[in-house]
Amino acid sequence: MQNISTVFVLDKNEQSREIIKSFVDGLDFVNEVKLYSDYNQGYEEIKQASNPVVIMDISEEPSELREIADKIKLVTSKIIITSINYSTNTIIKALRLGAKEFLPKPVLKEDLIRVLTMLASISPEEEGTPSKIITVYSNKGGIGKTTIAINLAAELAKVTKDKVALVDLNLQLGDISTFLNLNPPFDVNYVIQRLIDKEDSIFIKGFEKYKDTSLYILSDPSYIEQSGSITTQQISALFKKLKKVFPYIVVDMSSSIDPLSLKILDESDWILFSTIVNIPAIRNAQRCLNLFRSRNYPAKKVKIVVNRYMENDEIKIEDIENTLGESVYWKIPNNYFTIMEAINKGVSISEINSESNIGSNFRDFASKVSDDIIEQAVVQYRTRS
Ligand SMILES: Nc1ncnc2c1ncn2[C@@H]1O[C@H](COP(=O)(O)OP(=O)(O)OP(=O)(O)O)[C@@H](O)[C@H]1O
Ligand SMILES: [Mg+2]
Repeated sequence: MQNISTVFVLDKNEQSREIIKSFVDGLDFVNEVKLYSDYNQGYEEIKQASNPVVIMDISEEPSELREIADKIKLVTSKIIITSINYSTNTIIKALRLGAKEFLPKPVLKEDLIRVLTMLASISPEEEGTPSKIITVYSNKGGIGKTTIAINLAAELAKVTKDKVALVDLNLQLGDISTFLNLNPPFDVNYVIQRLIDKEDSIFIKGFEKYKDTSLYILSDPSYIEQSGSITTQQISALFKKLKKVFPYIVVDMSSSIDPLSLKILDESDWILFSTIVNIPAIRNAQRCLNLFRSRNYPAKKVKIVVNRYMENDEIKIEDIENTLGESVYWKIPNNYFTIMEAINKGVSISEINSESNIGSNFRDFASKVSDDIIEQAVVQYRTRS
């Protein structure tokens, strides 16, 4: 267990602040407690501290709350959120603001001590939010995996403001750096060989930060002969490290089914299984879903995404659902021209036209993905407490 340097209490209510201070004052593993009714002023101090814990009240929802929470998240993940309201919606809001723990008000002394003890026992090395590996997959080529992975990741970074990794594990024919016009200094092979055991701040240097966003890209190896040398153990180690550093990891891969691909699929939290609306693609999807069933993937791990969807398609979504025996999670419209313009200019779709049918679709898709991940966390939270 490590000492907590400072507990910062951000709360508009003076009495609540004082109560928390009285609980924390006697703890020998906390050096000091600081109280703020002005959240901005609190943030200015938080960013100077090393290993701080923040207790932030959201009962009153000051207007700048989201903005401040986004900034605090970048300094520490040790955030406790309190509120007089403890509906599921409030807990979802708290988790979205970056809460590691939620405590209903009035805060009980034993709950606060339990949570602070837990946070003190997390070393900076083990920090990080519960993160998800979201792999875009199809056992058929040319379905739109790379398009989906790139644009979902770009929108996730915008919607959540969290760090999002976009990892090209299409080791022989990766397209991400071409689609986004990148000249990556390093690639996945280098990162696996040289950076994986390094501290997080060095590891992340293997990624190319995409413009002024929180999207970080790890590109495929530049030479095909390097791709064969990556082992299944190395994939596991890479995923473990990625999960420590990024709340969201989006993976693009090839359509083959070989031991390395199966390892990637087995170790992903979510598989966005992509298909298009035509009979051969759906037949292939059926086969692949059977394979997933035989591997006993947990319910909700595999989510079906229909790409290039058109309202007037002869085959309807219900037909696909009946054939596959699963519901469709998301549909992406067909919009060849906007996508081709994005690829030709080497940018994401929203940079071409964020209000086009496909631009807004990816934004809504990212919101749904992040909402569903947060909801899963709430269910886990509810069952735990
Ligand atoms: N929603 C869409 N509407 C129109 N065109 C699309 C859509 N999604 C993808 N495409 C087009 O389909 C083609 C293949 O897309 P992409 O490269 O993303 O597929 P992929 O599954 O990654 O292919 P590969 O198996 O070669 O890696 C591209 O030309 C892309 O522009
Ligand atoms: Mg591809």
